[in-house]
Amino acid sequence: MKIAISGKGGVGKTTLAGCLARHLADQGQTVLAIDADPDSNLPSAVGVPPERLGEVQPLAAMKDLVAERTGAQPGTMGGMFKLNPKVDDIPDRFCLEHNGVKLLTLGTVPKGGGGCLCPESTLLRVLMRHLMVRRGETVIVDMEAGLEHLARGSTESMDAFVVVVEPGQRAIQTAHQIRRLASDLGIRRVMVVGNKIRDPEDQEVITKGVAPMQVLGHLRLRDSIRQADREGVSPYDLDPSLRDEVAGIYEALCRVAD
Ligand SMILES: Nc1ncnc2c1ncn2[C@@H]1O[C@H](COP(=O)(O)OP(=O)(O)O)[C@@H](O)[C@H]1O
Ligand SMILES: [Mg+2]
Repeated sequence: MKIAISGKGGVGKTTLAGCLARHLADQGQTVLAIDADPDSNLPSAVGVPPERLGEVQPLAAMKDLVAERTGAQPGTMGGMFKLNPKVDDIPDRFCLEHNGVKLLTLGTVPKGGGGCLCPESTLLRVLMRHLMVRRGETVIVDMEAGLEHLARGSTESMDAFVVVVEPGQRAIQTAHQIRRLASDLGIRRVMVVGNKIRDPEDQEVITKGVAPMQVLGHLRLRDSIRQADREGVSPYDLDPSLRDEVAGIYEALCRVAD
């Protein structure tokens, strides 16, 4: 299954992406977790220890790789480059594996509007397209709030498009905005996970607010997640009740995506 996770900044996308990746790896699936948010730290959420974080190199920042694959001359603006670079070996060669999860960090591409055609974004786009059709592998994409990755060609073939929402109108509005953008790209199946839930009222605010989007489940607001963040570990390792909630969300996802 190919799962994209999106939502307003700070709602818990990375937390959910990290926990889901761990859950699926524990179930024996081959999991590739893609950090597509330049302002994120998915490796930490998966449980990569601080001393190994230095091994994470964003693909877009690998100038030699970008130049080698696209034929672009480093340091020059414009110029010719290949629009169909070789990418099939990239996931295995450049991922960081931890707790059974393969992690790939995309990094930032120079801003140039939605249709940016620089060598870096071309490489990432072709890579994403390749990952979407690779068989036998679960892909979880932690996307940025700005929806840059909702570009044509990279997200249409997702099986599930999950928007994380916290109890509040701003996160709910962002979810509707994402649904509209997704629908423009032909993605119909956009689902919601509620996060930072304190009480049944919080759940109701989300369920009513995001309708007609379906709510897959909720994660409670909990100290263990803050504590994990403080200590630089995965909340998945600290809290069995969180693992149960994540498992429930994945079951609901499978029912809906079938
Ligand atoms: N259910 C929760 N309970 C407590 N803190 C949470 C919860 N979910 C997320 N957080 C905290 O909120 C902050 C933002 O979470 P994060 O997953 O990084 O969001 P995003 O990726 O959407 O920006 C982090 O400090 C995280 O530890
Ligand atoms: Mg994040």
